[in-house]
Order: sequence, then C-alpha cells, then structure tokens
Amino acid sequence: MKPVPLSLLPDTATVRADGSLAIGGCNLLDVAAQFGTPVFVYDEAHVRARCREAVAAFGPGRAVYATKAFLCGAMARLAYDEGMLLDVASGGELFVALNAGVPADALTLHGNNKSLAELRMAIEAGVRHIVVDSFDELDRLDTLHAEGLAAPKVIARITPGVHAHTHEFIATGQDDSKFGFNLGNGDAQRAVDRLRRSPSVHLEGVHCHIGSNVFEASSFAKAAEVMAKFAAPLDLPELVLGGGLGVAYVAGEEAPTITQWGNVLLDACQALGVRSAVSVEPGRSIVAQAAVTLYSVGTIKQIPGVRTYVSVDGGMSDNPRPVLYGSGYEAFLPRAVEAERPLIARLVGKHCESGDVLIFDAALPADLGVGDVLATPVTGAYGHSMASNYNKLTRPPVVFVNDGTARVVVRRETYEDLVRCEVV
Ligand code: LLP
Repeated sequence: MKPVPLSLLPDTATVRADGSLAIGGCNLLDVAAQFGTPVFVYDEAHVRARCREAVAAFGPGRAVYATKAFLCGAMARLAYDEGMLLDVASGGELFVALNAGVPADALTLHGNNKSLAELRMAIEAGVRHIVVDSFDELDRLDTLHAEGLAAPKVIARITPGVHAHTHEFIATGQDDSKFGFNLGNGDAQRAVDRLRRSPSVHLEGVHCHIGSNVFEASSFAKAAEVMAKFAAPLDLPELVLGGGLGVAYVAGEEAPTITQWGNVLLDACQALGVRSAVSVEPGRSIVAQAAVTLYSVGTIKQIPGVRTYVSVDGGMSDNPRPVLYGSGYEAFLPRAVEAERPLIARLVGKHCESGDVLIFDAALPADLGVGDVLATPVTGAYGHSMASNYNKLTRPPVVFVNDGTARVVVRRETYEDLVRCEVV
C-alpha cells in the first residue's frame, strides 16, 4: 500500500528532511511527548482558512458553523472571530458558546426535542434564531410567550423529502425522519401558516438539512430547488440550506470544496429566482481535515493465518465513527510519513469489547513497533465531540498547533474528573 495521501493531512502539514511530520510548525512526535497520547492535534491555520472560505463563499452572516462537529471555547471564539455565526443544538452547546464569549445574537438554536428550559434559555439570552422543529415545540413557544417572554425570531425546519446519498443514520432530509415538518404531507405548510399567525414568534425563514457527509453536489442542488419552490410564495428573508458537505477520509475519496459547494448552491438559488438571503451550516467541512489523533502503539498480536491486531491507547471512546457508521480511516507513523504501508492489520483500541475497532484493515509500515506514535488523519469532526468515558477512559486533550507553538485548549481529563459528579 502507498504512503498516506498527503491531501488528507491538515493544510500546514510538512514532511521534514528526516521523514517526520510537522503540523503548524510543530513536530508531531514532540507534541505526543509533551502532551501524551491519545491527543487531538488541530491545525489552527487550517480551521481558520476553512472558516474564511465559507464566509467568502456565502457572504458575511451567512456561514454558520455547526458546533456539534467540534466544540470548545477556543473553537467557538475562533469561528466567531473568523466571521462565522454558530449553530448550537442543545442547551449544553448553547452554554459552551455563550461561556466562550460568543454573543447570543450570533447563535442559532437547533434540535428536534428542545425542552422548555432550553427554549427559555435561548430566548432569555437573545439568540439570533430558533429553528422550530415540531408542533409540540410551537406549543412550548406559546407557553413561554404566555409567561411573558419576548417573541423570538424563528426559522421553520422543513423535511424536503430529498434522499441524500450517505449513511442512513446521518441522512435527515427524507420523509421518514424525526426532524422537521414534512413537505410531502402538508405539515410544512400547516406549520408555516401557524407560525405566520402566531404572536409567540416572528417567522424569518425556512431551513432544511438533507444529511451529513454528502459528496454529491447534485443532492444539494435538488434540495435547494425543492426548498426554493416552497419558500417562494412565503417571501421570507432567510433560506437556510443546512450543512452536510462531505470530506475525504481515505485514499481515493474526493469531495467538493466549500467554494465549489457555495457555487453550486448559490447558482441553483439564483437560477430559481430566490430572493431570500441563503445561508448554510457546515460543520464537518470546517474541522474534519484540520486534526489528526495521535496514539501510542501498546500491543501487537499476530495470529498466523488469521490477522495481526495492533492496539493503541484510545479507541471507540475517542472515535466511535468506525463502529457507528462503518467509517473508514487511514493510519500512518508521524516518524515516517512517506513510508510504504505493506502491513495490513486491524487497528483496535483498548476497550473491553471486540467491536472496538478504529480501522478494520489498516495499511501500516512494516517496521511498526510497540511504542510507536501512530496517527489517524481527518479526526477533527465528530471525534472529540462524540467522545465518551467508556471503560472510564479519560477523554484526550485538544491541542492547537500554529506557527511553531502548541497550546492545550482542552486539557486531558483526570481520574478525579471521572468521579466529579458522584454524590456521597
Ligand atoms: N445543520 C444541521 C441542522 C445538522 O443537523 C448538522 C449535522 C449540520 C448542520 C452539520 O452537518 P455537517 O456539515 O457537519 O455534515 N455524527 C455524524 C454526523 C451527524 C451530523 C448531524 N447533523 C458523523 O460523525 O458522521
């Protein structure tokens, strides 16, 4: 197998004369030695560049970072500083963004089952928009208005009936979905009619999100067409077309760039005569390729005639995507980035179950040994954010590298953190 494609690595990745890899001017082996493993290492310049690309492609105020992909205070501030607004999908995400100093009027609250408390929190904070997802949520907004809260600006989430070609767990635009008001059965029209009449809210626009990790620009254009047709007679100021742009995770995959995605969507909207401001909510495409996870190899087990298992010091608790979605990843050794990878092995974690697989058939250098630092690229989205404490592993730190400096923005959890919420 060929070396790991450098195109999967963060923008500032450079191979040094000795064959080792630096990101943000920091040697990854030094980062591993300084902060320990496992560790998420983010190329700050890469994240900033993707935020700027999104703002340039869609315009100021029209590129909304979906924080579910990766959120901590440093990330929230970075995205906001680069001109993005932020989408939060729970009271917790809202809290983290506000706690980071992002103004409430830069935040949109999402969620298919927002509680009264979450809605109250968002309205009291003064968020920019609440994306209304259901009739029950409308009832809750009425309740809050009756309590005396101000009427928030809202966007109606529409399920356009467009099937995105992606894993079924992350496809959301089809009719059979827990999200939004279905277009096909008239719910969308009923919701919009009620929202327009309601004194509890100000309806500002409609929204759709067809799914995540979508590679085909045509799926987005189709959704834009369906939404534009629905939205035209409403004549509302906002049309939000969600996130979902895919990224390449493994050799041979190719995804549209944010700029190309912008061109497809905005051209489609222009051709359809859309007058509303068109905005999007990218998450994965902003952060996925910005990070690599560094692990240490601890155990290598060869079963002649069967396979080789390579165990690292993390696993499904820092990257559940292979187990959840069957997602593929690549692996390489930061000490020898351009090495051929003839060894095919199962890369596994340290959790107490056989399903704890990071890469089913990883291609690795032949001289891989115990103690090696091993990296998996494209782990910047939905890795840290979906991390767990399974088997009471402590969640890894997040390190931002930039211009030769590595700084921890989320520290490694300690054993004390594991018992912090225990009472008695
Ligand atoms: N907007 C809405 C309303 C969403 O539901 C999502 C993602 C996004 C934006 C951002 O989508 P992105 O640009 O990141 O594709 N855990 C899964 C992905 C779940 C995505 C959920 N919603 C994974 O690891 O693939």
